[in-house]
Amino acid sequence: MAKKIVLSGLQPSGTLHIGNYLGMLKNATALQEEGDYERFYFIADYHSLTQKYDPKQKREDIFNLAVDLLAAGLDPKRSTLFVQSHVSEHANLAWILNTITSVGELERMVEYKEKVKQGQAPNAGLFDYPVLMAADILMYKANLVPVGEDQRQHLELTRTIARTFNSRFGQTFPEPDVLPTSTPRIMSISDPTQKMSKSIPSGCIFLTDSPEAIKKKIMSAETDSERAIGYDPRKRPAVSNLVSIYAGFTDTTPEKVVKEFAGKGYADFK
Ligand code: AQP
Repeated sequence: MAKKIVLSGLQPSGTLHIGNYLGMLKNATALQEEGDYERFYFIADYHSLTQKYDPKQKREDIFNLAVDLLAAGLDPKRSTLFVQSHVSEHANLAWILNTITSVGELERMVEYKEKVKQGQAPNAGLFDYPVLMAADILMYKANLVPVGEDQRQHLELTRTIARTFNSRFGQTFPEPDVLPTSTPRIMSISDPTQKMSKSIPSGCIFLTDSPEAIKKKIMSAETDSERAIGYDPRKRPAVSNLVSIYAGFTDTTPEKVVKEFAGKGYADFK
């Protein structure tokens, strides 16, 4: 049987944080232990140009992300690791896919609206980001895409684009599935209504933070006024986020974490 193809990308837009790890990298590294996959991971430099950047800094960011990915466990013997812009077919296919994607479809993308709301310039590249992402995935005929929750809608659009292409030009692309982790959306530790994001460093725990720095960040992370540890992301987003982080790193469930800390306060938990 043909091996399944796994593919995902990360933007060189700053240091990796635990949201990137728990939402995506954890699955990417775990899949290296299983034999039935061919794996591709790339540094999404074209994508990152949709945000303001300094070209010199960008070169460093690309290098640093490669180092971080190797340190986090991506193994070049088992995963093909590459830089997106080194393979010009990503942009070539994106152009073809642009011609079969409706503007209305792109206007529905929540990530685009959020980024513009956060003050990012609404450039055409940012608007078109999901089509480049579809090209990234479809040109490798990927079956599985380990990504965080923020990318799920883009994956749905990739599936739609694959269907449209196949119905017009004949069966060409498989429709890829999202491979979510058990912690697909880690929120900011300073504002649990926002996702942990490289562009808001104050809410991030970075993979390069020292144990002391991590401790300090966790100790000052937002909780709430209730005394018991609980898990209810809608009603208690701050503490639920911390519970998710704990569960993600100890390979357990939020429910078991709540049980483990029953009767204990935040100081113990943190
Ligand atoms: N908070 C998060 N929780 C879970 N997964 C997350 N991912 C990102 N943030 C979280 C997942 O990490 C992978 C790589 O993300 P990215 O670097 O391509 O870009 P991003 O989603 O834009 O990441 P950031 O940190 O939020 O960067 P900026 O601030 O530049 O926008 C993806 O699979 C993503 O889902």
